[in-house]
Amino acid sequence: MPSSAQPDAPAASISIHELHFAYADAPPALRGVSLDVRAGAKVALLGASGAGKSTLLLHVNGVHLPQQGTVRVGEDLVAKENLRRIRQRVGLVFQDPDDQLFHLTVAEDVAFGPRNFGLPPETVAERVREALAAMHLEGFEDRVNQHLSFGERRRASLATVLAMRPSVLALDEPFANLDPRMVRSLMSLLDTFAGTVLLASQDILPALGCCHEAAVLQDGVIIAHAPVRDIAQDRDLLRRCGIDFWYLAEILDGLR
Ligand SMILES: Nc1ncnc2c1ncn2[C@@H]1O[C@H](COP(=O)(O)OP(=O)(O)OP(=O)(O)O)[C@@H](O)[C@H]1O
Ligand SMILES: [Mg+2]
Repeated sequence: MPSSAQPDAPAASISIHELHFAYADAPPALRGVSLDVRAGAKVALLGASGAGKSTLLLHVNGVHLPQQGTVRVGEDLVAKENLRRIRQRVGLVFQDPDDQLFHLTVAEDVAFGPRNFGLPPETVAERVREALAAMHLEGFEDRVNQHLSFGERRRASLATVLAMRPSVLALDEPFANLDPRMVRSLMSLLDTFAGTVLLASQDILPALGCCHEAAVLQDGVIIAHAPVRDIAQDRDLLRRCGIDFWYLAEILDGLR
């Protein structure tokens, strides 16, 4: 695996305590979320559409700040005064790549983070090369982001974050629009990643395939957090939350 996917600093824990958050003119999105992710753990965050997964991930690097409750990354409280430090440690991949990519070309976007850290130009160039290679985007350097396919934009988004070598990856639907080969490639990259991973996904099988634990969010509350096998085998829980994915096994059986 390219070294770009490895963190620069030791893995850090994520500790979320009684987190509440409501958007203006909407019912509360998070209603007292508590979740502990150990340093180096890989946790799949599952839940129906609208359960609050993206809202929760946006708190891990301070895009949203808690209205009530706390979020910590390692010892650092996610708060205004710590945002620079937090964002050096936590790489957030947004659900919508268009929220991530704001430069004209792929290379400019991937270079932005490392350059912002004050790294010398040759190190920035090396980081860009490595991150693009990790996402199989060699040759995409000068391509215009807005002209890329959705799956290519997803990979470019992932590359922007990998180039920063974060010790925590907060990934929002990282498998969406990836083709099966790229899904497998990303799974194996995450599998060997030495940092901490919190990964929200409706692509439940790939998520469970590369995480050790799963946490289930329902209506803004974490209602279960256990090893992936335990969550996957609790059909009642999965049905209650609208995420029973076992129909996929029937499809696979039918194809055998
Ligand atoms: N900017 C916003 N303004 C108002 N309400 C919002 C906003 N963003 C999200 N919401 C609401 O907050 C709730 C949680 O949304 P969120 O995007 O976190 O869910 P999710 O679990 O990520 O869903 P999905 O699986 O569809 O991505 C939803 O009810 C959603 O409608
Ligand atoms: Mg979401």
